[in-house]
Amino acid sequence: MSIRAILFDLDGVIVDTAKYHYLAWRRLAQELGFEFTEKDNERLKGVSRMRSLEILLEVGGLLGKFSEEEMNRMAEKKNNWYVEYITKMDESEILKGTLDCLKGFRALGLKTALGSASKNARLILDNLKLVPYFDAIIDGTKTSKAKPDPEVFLLGAQALGVSPEECVVFEDAQAGIEAAKSAGMKAIAVGRPEDLTGYDLIVKGLYEVNPAEIAKL
Ligand code: BG6
Ligand code: MG
Repeated sequence: MSIRAILFDLDGVIVDTAKYHYLAWRRLAQELGFEFTEKDNERLKGVSRMRSLEILLEVGGLLGKFSEEEMNRMAEKKNNWYVEYITKMDESEILKGTLDCLKGFRALGLKTALGSASKNARLILDNLKLVPYFDAIIDGTKTSKAKPDPEVFLLGAQALGVSPEECVVFEDAQAGIEAAKSAGMKAIAVGRPEDLTGYDLIVKGLYEVNPAEIAKL
């Protein structure tokens, strides 16, 4: 079956928002009285907001000490700080190779979709002026199950009117690679081989991608 659509994760593939997530989570940790390191932050990649909070509290030895209401308030506080950071983003923060990739796939007649866990994806794409490059945008406001569940990518395929086997996914998180594979799609890892596993192909960034080769996968 030939490839008809390309699905992109956002954070870590198109833009490096991990640093802003980190600043906001670290600020919360500081308020709670413990250190949250960049290494700890690696565990949050691709993970939903509430699950990220649980991991953070686990790092600080505080998991289980707060009510659901308090947890929601903390997640909201972190998100307000995060939104402050990403509101200042512009096109200069689009990762190298992204535009050529998006244009290249479209020039070959392939469809493109975003498949992100983030509820802030729309704001980021707006600031980066990338909305017109996607035929469908599936983000954390449209999904009920977090990666590694395949929901986000299956909804993407559905919105594009293609079958999962006709899709290729670009992902930087292990949970995302697993989501793509369990959706029955090809998974291209974006990152380092020592951090990721179970992919069909790996690249350091979208700047290494040749759309014509991917279309033949
Ligand atoms: C993912 C990020 O894309 O989105 C995670 O990799 C983040 O780090 C998740 O927690 C949810 O993002 P948001 O913007 O809805 O808090
Ligand atoms: Mg990601």
